[in-house]
Amino acid sequence: MTDQASTLRKRFSQNNQKSHRVDSARFRSLSITSGKGGVGKTNIVINLAIHLAKLGKRVFLIDADLGLANIDILLNIAPQFTIEDVLMGKKHINDIIIEGPMGIHILPASSGISEMQTLSGKQQMSMLRELANLKTQYDFILIDTGAGISSNVLRFNAAADEICVVTNPEPTAITDAYALMKIMSSKYQVHHFNLIVNQSGPAESKDVFNRLVRVLNKFLTVNLELLGSIPRDPNFIRAVKQQEPISLSYPNSPAGKAFRKLAMNVTDPSGGLMLNDKDSSFWKRLGSWKRN
Ligand SMILES: Nc1ncnc2c1ncn2[C@@H]1O[C@H](COP(=O)(O)OP(=O)(O)OP(=O)(O)O)[C@@H](O)[C@H]1O
Ligand SMILES: [Mg+2]
Repeated sequence: MTDQASTLRKRFSQNNQKSHRVDSARFRSLSITSGKGGVGKTNIVINLAIHLAKLGKRVFLIDADLGLANIDILLNIAPQFTIEDVLMGKKHINDIIIEGPMGIHILPASSGISEMQTLSGKQQMSMLRELANLKTQYDFILIDTGAGISSNVLRFNAAADEICVVTNPEPTAITDAYALMKIMSSKYQVHHFNLIVNQSGPAESKDVFNRLVRVLNKFLTVNLELLGSIPRDPNFIRAVKQQEPISLSYPNSPAGKAFRKLAMNVTDPSGGLMLNDKDSSFWKRLGSWKRN
């Protein structure tokens, strides 16, 4: 697995040789997050990454579910080094990035290490600063957060340009999605969110979206956009068992097609994703941590 470091170094130097610079207007970092666990975040982030890569975008996928990493399992890859090695000062961030399907770059996390779930503010901050340095290399940085309202989850969300909250149509998941937006809005002054409704058809997703908007309008100053919906699809379970993303193994399945549409919405500003104030987001929110 010596490849893990050398492949990426090669890639970075190739990028530099071409003096390739990502057009900052196109750059977006998106966190895929949820209040309730198990609603489909990791599968969504992986399949979205694959479709963005198919559209020619350079994608960086961060497994920010620290201590309970899943991206490596779902992609059937076995990273030798993880974010943990970076935090312990053993590795530089560039040395642990690995290349996944469709050329997407992945920052792997570790599993079964409880300390990773309770990083200090200083550790979180230094990691996010390092990640910010990489942003010129990519068109999209996708962040798969853990579920819930732990400080790791909140701070990765706070650092992203855009936050996509995932829910399914179950009342518990919807309530937890609301709770997460409420905390992000009160603690980190985030007032715009995107919604992905998983395991749901378009009509039901619209209904879930409308229900959330009604509650948000009543109690918070928050704007919500419906970014997409992914249907319940039996091919999903097959793909997960095969450890291959559904967008590659069953591209024409209902969920496979929905992921293609989701990627189009993400890349097309008129298709759903409404950017926050891009210039201010990352650094302004990093600054706001100090007050929280
Ligand atoms: N649209 C879908 N149709 C059918 N099954 C799905 C769908 N989306 C997700 N699943 C199933 O739900 C399970 C949980 O998905 P996933 O691991 O992506 O959720 P998660 O939100 O990342 O969970 P966690 O909070 O634990 O990180 C998976 O086993 C997957 O097979
Ligand atoms: Mg997950």
